Amino acid sequence: MISISMLKAIVKDYTASPHLSRVPEPQLIIDEAENVEAFDAACTGNGPITPIYLFVTSHVAQVISGCEKVLDLGCGSGRLLTQHALANPRISFTAIDLSTEMLGRADEHLRENHIQNVDLRVQDMTNLKDFANQTFDAVISSLALHHLPDERSLEACFKEIRRVLKPNGRIFLYDYCLPKIPGTIDYLLSRTSSDQPKVLNEDALNSMKAAFPYAYFKQLIRENFPDNIETYTTALCSFMTILKSPSRKLSRDHEKHFHSIYQSLNAKNRQIYQDVAQLFKFNGLKSLIK
Ligand SMILES: C[S@@+](CC[C@H](N)C(=O)[O-])C[C@H]1O[C@@H](n2cnc3c(N)ncnc32)[C@H](O)[C@@H]1O
Repeated sequence: MISISMLKAIVKDYTASPHLSRVPEPQLIIDEAENVEAFDAACTGNGPITPIYLFVTSHVAQVISGCEKVLDLGCGSGRLLTQHALANPRISFTAIDLSTEMLGRADEHLRENHIQNVDLRVQDMTNLKDFANQTFDAVISSLALHHLPDERSLEACFKEIRRVLKPNGRIFLYDYCLPKIPGTIDYLLSRTSSDQPKVLNEDALNSMKAAFPYAYFKQLIRENFPDNIETYTTALCSFMTILKSPSRKLSRDHEKHFHSIYQSLNAKNRQIYQDVAQLFKFNGLKSLIK
């Protein structure tokens, strides 16, 4: 069930007139040691990003099932990438970021987990110069596109995704999108801010203010990809988006893997998972975990 506080916040946004404009991130890449540390810590154990990762990994697995080569744009400190690699051991991942600090962390996490199916590269997601046309079966990304400075860069990134994808290649792009009013951002941050370091709360606020509007994501999908790409946003209030190829069925064991991660979440994070899953479900995207 969706929480009452979330319901109140999204209804308020739904009935409001839009007055937020996008403000690009003050730091386009995450390279300061303190910010890297805070982000990395939030993505592990019962950190506030953990339930989001479960939601993302379970959907990504359904999109990339059967693929051989997958590119991850803006992999950050590699916590999510590690989960993709563990959940999909037969797939070969290439992951890029512009922050060497973040890539250093990612390398550590991959080693700690004895992961062999990931190649890390310093690369700009708007200029994938290391990769020839039609290299990948799928391109995925999480919480990275809002780091781009402007609409032209996002457009360049979409064109690069299209270029490096094989014909009928698959996508899973997940990010924030810009809500109508500042109160929505305040509410979303308030759910986790009290037990998080100040630097993480500042980064999260900057990220949400830097999100692109959902309408722009939809336009770029229409202009660059075939008709079968599904576009989703959270119900009543667009504050997250998922742009994806159709899902494929997972094996029973693969599904069990994600259920067991859900069982390991604490009550607060299960509620965050349920809220996000329900808000996407209202708009037609089903969750693997009920
Ligand atoms: C918030 S992190 C997300 C990390 C990871 N995908 C996740 O979901 O946890 C966004 C990452 O995008 C990277 N980034 C920003 N601009 C980039 C660009 N133009 N090309 C590649 N990476 C970029 C940042 O350095 C940062 O590590």
